[in-house]
Amino acid sequence: MSSTPVLHHTPNERWMPPNHEPDRIWSKPHVDILSDAHRPGCDTSTSVYDHANRQWYQLNLTDEEVRGEEDWKIETVRKHITEYYDLHGEPPPWNCIDVMSRKDGRVVPTSFETRPYEQIARSIGGVEFSYGEKGNNLFPTTSFDLVRQKRHIKWGSDRCVWDGLDCVLKRVDLSYSLEVMEKEIKVRTELLYRAVWEMHDDAADDDMFEQRFSLAPILAVVYRDISGGTDADNRRVMMGILMPYCGVDLQMLAGGWKYGMLGQNCSQDDNEEEEVCPPPPRPWPTLPASITKDHFEKLVRGAWEMSRAGVGLGDICDENVVLTPDESRLIFVDVGMVVHGYKGDEYALGETMLWAMDRVSWEDQREIERVREAARLLQSEGDYEGALKKLEK
Ligand SMILES: Nc1ncnc2c1ncn2[C@@H]1O[C@H](COP(=O)(O)OP(=O)(O)O)[C@@H](O)[C@H]1O
Ligand SMILES: [Mg+2]
Repeated sequence: MSSTPVLHHTPNERWMPPNHEPDRIWSKPHVDILSDAHRPGCDTSTSVYDHANRQWYQLNLTDEEVRGEEDWKIETVRKHITEYYDLHGEPPPWNCIDVMSRKDGRVVPTSFETRPYEQIARSIGGVEFSYGEKGNNLFPTTSFDLVRQKRHIKWGSDRCVWDGLDCVLKRVDLSYSLEVMEKEIKVRTELLYRAVWEMHDDAADDDMFEQRFSLAPILAVVYRDISGGTDADNRRVMMGILMPYCGVDLQMLAGGWKYGMLGQNCSQDDNEEEEVCPPPPRPWPTLPASITKDHFEKLVRGAWEMSRAGVGLGDICDENVVLTPDESRLIFVDVGMVVHGYKGDEYALGETMLWAMDRVSWEDQREIERVREAARLLQSEGDYEGALKKLEK
C-alpha cells in the first residue's frame, strides 16, 4: 500500500474517468451537458456527464422536430437514468439515448444502446505532472481498487472507505485538472517540510495538519492501472488524493448554495453576465449552535500558521471550510489554486467570518461583535495577530 510508484502525465496524454466504477453507491443523478454538436439538418449529439454517479452518456436527437433546449435535454437524460435505476436497482448498462428517430418514414420511439466507452466519454487534457519522483513522494500511494463505497458529495469529491477509514477522494475529474491536484499536494508537502525541518515540529503527522494548520491532510495519492494491450501501453495514472472525511461544509450547514457566500446566480440565459441575487428573505437557517467563537479562533490560527509557512490557501469560502464530525473544530479542505479575482486569504477569511456571523444563533451579541472585529482587521490590515487578540478575549 505504501510503495511509491511514479505516476506520470505528459501534456499529450488524455485522461478518461473509469467506466462503471465498482463499489459505487448510487446517488440521485446530477447531470451536466458538456458539449453539444449540432449539424444543421442533421443529428444532434450531446455529451452528458452524471457527476453523482461519475458516468458519461450521449443523447442523440435524430429528429429536428424534437426540441433541443438544454433544460429539456438534462431532464430527459436524468429521467431515463433514474427510471432505469428505480426499476432494476442498478445503473443502466447503456450509455446512449436516441430520441425519436425516424427510420424509413416510421417514427421509432426512444431507444437505448451501448457504444464503446471511448466514443462516449470525454477525456480531459493532462498537464505535465508526475508524482513519486524527485523527492515529491512524501505521501503514500494506493490503488483505486482499494477505495471502496464511493459516494458523491459535491463536484469532484466522493466520500469513501479506505483502509477501514471514513475518507474523501478528491478526484481528477472534469472539474479537476491535474494542475489543481498538483497544487493540493504541493501545499501539504511544503507544510510538512516547513514543519519538520524549519519549525522542528516533532509531531509532523496527519494530526499536525488538522491541529496546527486546520487543514485536511492527504492520507494517500490514488492511482489506477490502465492496461493498453501491450506491456509498453500499460500506464499508471493518478486518480486523485485521499483525505480523511472532515465533516460537512459551512455552506451546506447554512442551508445550501442559496444561502451561500456567492449568492444565487439568477441570470436568465447562459450568455448573460452572471448576475448574483440576494439570498431568500430572512429568517435564514442558522449554523449549528456547536460552532462558537473558539472555532473561529482556531481557524484563524491555522490560516496564520500556514501563512507563516509561506503557503496560501487560494479559495477560502463557505464551501471550503467544514465542521468536524465531533463538532470540535473547523477545517479547511480545498487548497492550492487561487480563484479568479481572489483578494487574498486574509480578506477571504474575514469575509467568510462575516458571512458566518449573519448566520449564528449566539445569545451573546458581544461574541458576535468580537468575531466581526477580528474579521474586519483581517480584511483591512491582513492582521492575523490582531485578529487573534480580539478572538482570544
Ligand atoms: N476532507 C473532506 N472532508 C469532508 N468533506 C470534504 C472534504 N474534501 C472535500 N469535501 C467536500 O467536497 C466539496 C468539494 O471539495 P473541494 O476540495 O472543495 O473541491 P473543489 O476544488 O471542487 O472546490 C467541498 O465543498 C466539501 O463539501
Ligand atoms: Mg472547494
